Amino acid sequence: MKVLLINGSPNGHGCTYTALKEIEKTLRQEGIETEMFYLGNKPIGGCIGCGSCRKTGKCVQDDIVNKLLPKALAADAMVLGAPVHYASAAGQASSAFDRLFMMSNGGFANKLGAAVVSCRRGGASATFDQLNKYFTISNMPVVSGTYWNQVHGNTPEEVKQDEEGMQNMRAIGRNMAWLLKCIEAGKAAGIALPFREEKIKTNYIH
Ligand SMILES: Cc1cc2nc3c(=O)[nH]c(=O)nc-3n(C[C@H](O)[C@H](O)[C@H](O)COP(=O)(O)O)c2cc1C
Repeated sequence: MKVLLINGSPNGHGCTYTALKEIEKTLRQEGIETEMFYLGNKPIGGCIGCGSCRKTGKCVQDDIVNKLLPKALAADAMVLGAPVHYASAAGQASSAFDRLFMMSNGGFANKLGAAVVSCRRGGASATFDQLNKYFTISNMPVVSGTYWNQVHGNTPEEVKQDEEGMQNMRAIGRNMAWLLKCIEAGKAAGIALPFREEKIKTNYIH
């Protein structure tokens, strides 16, 4: 069982990383394999809506998001982490996650998802809502903690002082490990995956 933790901050070892590390540490204590994936600090283009990925399985913008996709498809669960920029997820993270989920073409169904955001002061819950929407359109069970998944601080040292935030990160790790083990046990007991109907897309036109 493997969890992919995606650091959507341009800061490789900043506040988002500090929160993700706490989840990772807890997952490892629970015997779950992990991998941390850093999106980098170069600009990442947004989805141009060309639909090419639906035919080729990869994006025409051949960058780090194409490297991320196979890792996300191979994982049993993922944690999306992003800093809050102007009350939304940072631009690179939004662009990368839009393209990742568009490319996945339903391939993330039944994997677990958790979202984590880092901010100095405000915009955390709007950003948390934004990230959770990637999971809830993708048939992914969402793993929660004891609060909305946010840490506060401008530096890793400040984030570590957010004891409630850090405790919540550990709760996410434990809850995710527990659910992964339950799913594994369910598979061994012969519990089938949910039946999926063919998608109906109405675009509100009747
Ligand atoms: C462009 C930009 C916009 C930001 N906007 C917000 C904001 O709207 N609300 C907030 O509380 N912090 C904001 N911040 C602060 C960061 O969210 C905060 O420092 C975060 O913990 C940084 O995480 P990181 O070290 O992983 O990049 C902003 C920072 C930047 C660079």
